[in-house]
Amino acid sequence: MDRKDFFSKALLGGSVLFIAPAVLNSCGKTSSDPASVSGGITSGGITLDLTTTGNAALNTVGGFVYSGNVIIIRTSDTNYVALSKVCTHQGCTVSYSKSSNKLVCPCHGAQFNTGGSVLQGPASRSLSSYTVTVNGNTLTIS
Ligand code: FES
Repeated sequence: MDRKDFFSKALLGGSVLFIAPAVLNSCGKTSSDPASVSGGITSGGITLDLTTTGNAALNTVGGFVYSGNVIIIRTSDTNYVALSKVCTHQGCTVSYSKSSNKLVCPCHGAQFNTGGSVLQGPASRSLSSYTVTVNGNTLTIS
């Protein structure tokens, strides 16, 4: 190996060492990785006024609204549930199906019951659930 070959190969090796960490890092967690997706609510909780137009869907059984990362569903005349809207598979936003009484993820078909438990994968972890308190026309989610 002459001097020119040596420097040529050393330069190529150095390039591989320089590029390798960036390539390897791309295989790590991303912002859509379920472990790094935040599905929670702020420490002050969420307050919803049922008399406002934006929350009108909650005046009907089967209706639902989103607030931040939370989906709030009216499941009966007297009952509401609040769950993380962030699918635990890869972070898509779940929706509620009144006809099947399930939360469904449009991305890969995961399904959850209204308690947040997984009914069908590929998600393997439950949706976080929150406490809903009703006081007149005000819902407080904490
Ligand atoms: Fe919901 Fe894949 S992100 S099933």
